[in-house]
Amino acid sequence: MPKKFYVTTPIYYPSGNLHIGHAYTTTLADILNRYKQTKGYETFFLTGSDEHGQKIEEKAKEANQEPMVYLEDKIANFKTLWEKLDIKYSKFIRTTDDYHEQTVKKIFTTLLEKGLIFKGDYEGLYCVSCEEFLNADQITEDGNCKISGGKPQLVKEDTYFLKTSAFQDFATKVLTSDFLLPEYRRNEMLKNFVEPGIKDLSVTRTTFKWGIPIDQDPSHVVYVWIDALSNYITALGYDQNDDSLFKKFWQDPETEILQLAGKEIIRFHAIYWPIMLEGLGLRQPNHLLGHGWILSKDTKMSKSLGNVIDPIALIDEFGADALRFYIANDLPTDKDGNFTMDLFTESFNAHLANNIGNLISRTNNMITKYFDGHLGDDLNLVDKIMLDEANKSIEKFELLMDQYKISEAIRVVLDLGQTTNKYIEDKAPWNLEKEGKLEELKVVMITLQRMISIISFLLSPILVKNSEIMLEQCGLKTDSLNFDNIKTFENIKFNKLGEKAVIFQRIK
Ligand code: ME8
Ligand code: MG
Repeated sequence: MPKKFYVTTPIYYPSGNLHIGHAYTTTLADILNRYKQTKGYETFFLTGSDEHGQKIEEKAKEANQEPMVYLEDKIANFKTLWEKLDIKYSKFIRTTDDYHEQTVKKIFTTLLEKGLIFKGDYEGLYCVSCEEFLNADQITEDGNCKISGGKPQLVKEDTYFLKTSAFQDFATKVLTSDFLLPEYRRNEMLKNFVEPGIKDLSVTRTTFKWGIPIDQDPSHVVYVWIDALSNYITALGYDQNDDSLFKKFWQDPETEILQLAGKEIIRFHAIYWPIMLEGLGLRQPNHLLGHGWILSKDTKMSKSLGNVIDPIALIDEFGADALRFYIANDLPTDKDGNFTMDLFTESFNAHLANNIGNLISRTNNMITKYFDGHLGDDLNLVDKIMLDEANKSIEKFELLMDQYKISEAIRVVLDLGQTTNKYIEDKAPWNLEKEGKLEELKVVMITLQRMISIISFLLSPILVKNSEIMLEQCGLKTDSLNFDNIKTFENIKFNKLGEKAVIFQRIK
């Protein structure tokens, strides 16, 4: 049986168009999903949209549209972006999908019947933009929300609560395990939210209509978290007629489950979601990767702040791979990162154009010039030192990717690229050819061909389109390499090189 992997992104609010921040999380998930596939895993990759709530209701009203009409365009935009960015998800869930709404009602009922949901009333400051009740430490001195900058509303209403306060010990156990990544976030959560005492979570609202009404008390709609978080299991068919995907990708303890979320919603995914699952008697995900923010001039890039960069324009100009690479390489998940056009251009030119693109192009030129594009099949004539170097890189790459450290894994490949470029300078094939040392020249070229093949293969989850061209420039078919044959190249045949393609032309 193949190993299994289930990866999820947050479901995004369609209250505006998506920006690079959303592209960030989704691209990381896509890269890990593709990586697992190259390792032979059977995978499921879920993304989607979070369509209920006060903000969407207000946006639709502003646009003078029914919410469902307002949403159509927005969701079409989401899907266009994912297609342009080469995001290959298995399923796109909308929280307005009927199966989801029905299952959320069932989940609410189950928790109510178990005594884990109870009715009470709530008074608090609510930020509509963040769809969140704010604690004192989330509010500025002038009384605004620290994240959106908006004025929170005073809300006093009947509400149902999830009895999260009863799960203090459970939450502590989750947060002291290896569940939340990176590790330093565990203490942050414990100190800020668990140690002061977990408060019960308000899970229904009565002051707006655009949500899932509960059967027991239809003036209440399920608000944000029970609706939104449940998507990760309703999408798989939890508590529905056909729950085979749920059994396979969630309940099976052998399935590796990874969830991704930005740091502002780690709290919900690392405390409330595990509690919900525990309350329902379900297994926990293996890991939550909580990542930092993409900043623009030192503040969070966000719809509400209006300082966003449009990923579609960027893809149209530079291609999806360029953006995927910047996200994966230049924005490590354990801290906030910056996006500016200067940084983007600099990184592209240094790594993709000068290092990788140039290496493949030089190697291809020399094989064509000195050997008419074909080195023969005696692949054993390879430089042992370089071969060792490459095999060590492959191992390091796998180790880091298995820990979801994408940026560090790419660093290993880029270093191998640099080592290989240096190998060309050191061996100076043009001199070997002049001096008639053809055996030695052949060893060098076979070694180079193998190095660029390895580099192209390792980067294939990131550079979806270009890696195909890169492998072709190595004389290989797209799917001829895998993690089993890449160290020995046994049974691999290099074709005669065809026409040269230009990859990663410098951005001026
Ligand atoms: O919070 N940097 O939706 P949302 C990095 N619907 N990542 C960013 C980012 C930035 N500047 N901006 C957005 C919601 N993101 C809820 C989630 S899940 C059950 C419900 C990414 O549209 C990041 O993943 O506000 C963040 O957590 C998510 O988009 C928030 O998207
Ligand atoms: Mg948000």
